[in-house]
Amino acid sequence: MVVEKGGKTEIKRLSLNKIGCALRLRSAYHLGKTQINLVLHSACTIFAKYMEKKKINIAVDGFSSCGKSTIAKGLAKKLNYIYIDSGAMYRTIALYAIKKGWLTETEIDEMSLKKAISSIKISFKTNAEGQQETFLNDENVENEIRTLEVADGASRISAIGFVRKELVRQQQEIGRKKGVVMDGRDIGTVVFPDAELKLFLTASPEVRAKRRFDELVAKGENPNFEDVLKNLKERDLRDTTRSESPLYKADDAIELDNSDVTIEEQLEWAIQKIYP
Ligand code: DC
Repeated sequence: MVVEKGGKTEIKRLSLNKIGCALRLRSAYHLGKTQINLVLHSACTIFAKYMEKKKINIAVDGFSSCGKSTIAKGLAKKLNYIYIDSGAMYRTIALYAIKKGWLTETEIDEMSLKKAISSIKISFKTNAEGQQETFLNDENVENEIRTLEVADGASRISAIGFVRKELVRQQQEIGRKKGVVMDGRDIGTVVFPDAELKLFLTASPEVRAKRRFDELVAKGENPNFEDVLKNLKERDLRDTTRSESPLYKADDAIELDNSDVTIEEQLEWAIQKIYP
């Protein structure tokens, strides 16, 4: 599993912080350039090691379109963590199966999918605009996996035991070194049951359908609101009632209904939970 992370912004941020520190050190202690560099280098190394050790995993679960990815991406950016959209992984497997003709409106060829599952390569890369994109066997499929057809296929395919087993294995591998914010349905319950912070997001179906509708319109599609709402309710039902890892709130997860809350308020609230 390859997860590339854009480091340019972080380097820029650290460099600006360093310049600020250097100016303060020079005026307060009258240090020369070499001494300032030495002090800053040691301080940065100690701080980086401290932050590395303090890294945690954050699980963000909840229903479709309730803003999980917005808060998960925001947290990953603020904390300089890796963000993983686990739903994109299920969508990618669904897209692969659709392309192969193994996933139709009425049937799933589980035998063929089972044989191929471990050879399907899913990876994430950050593009020039800082947005994470999903790749299937090195082909950028970010737009293709966001259609209603693939969403519906992902919901059906995610109920299959061997699909979940393989993707959970890959997700746990990514989280081994900590410093990951992952969103999905079973992150706090199955993937990272020991996650140091678990969030469970909710919002009314109508609010969520409106968000999804707006996203599709922004992408140039021409969706029907009632279809979007129906698709979302069907997926909610399937996600919560399937026998394999159904969606539910982990006992130690903190619930947030974000129907009327801005993203900045949500991020501030979540950061407070990490650094009270
Ligand atoms: O979050 P999303 O809408 O992109 O997810 C697509 C489908 O994948 C959704 O119907 C539920 C499923 N899914 C899952 O079962 N477990 C996850 N950890 C993430 C997504």
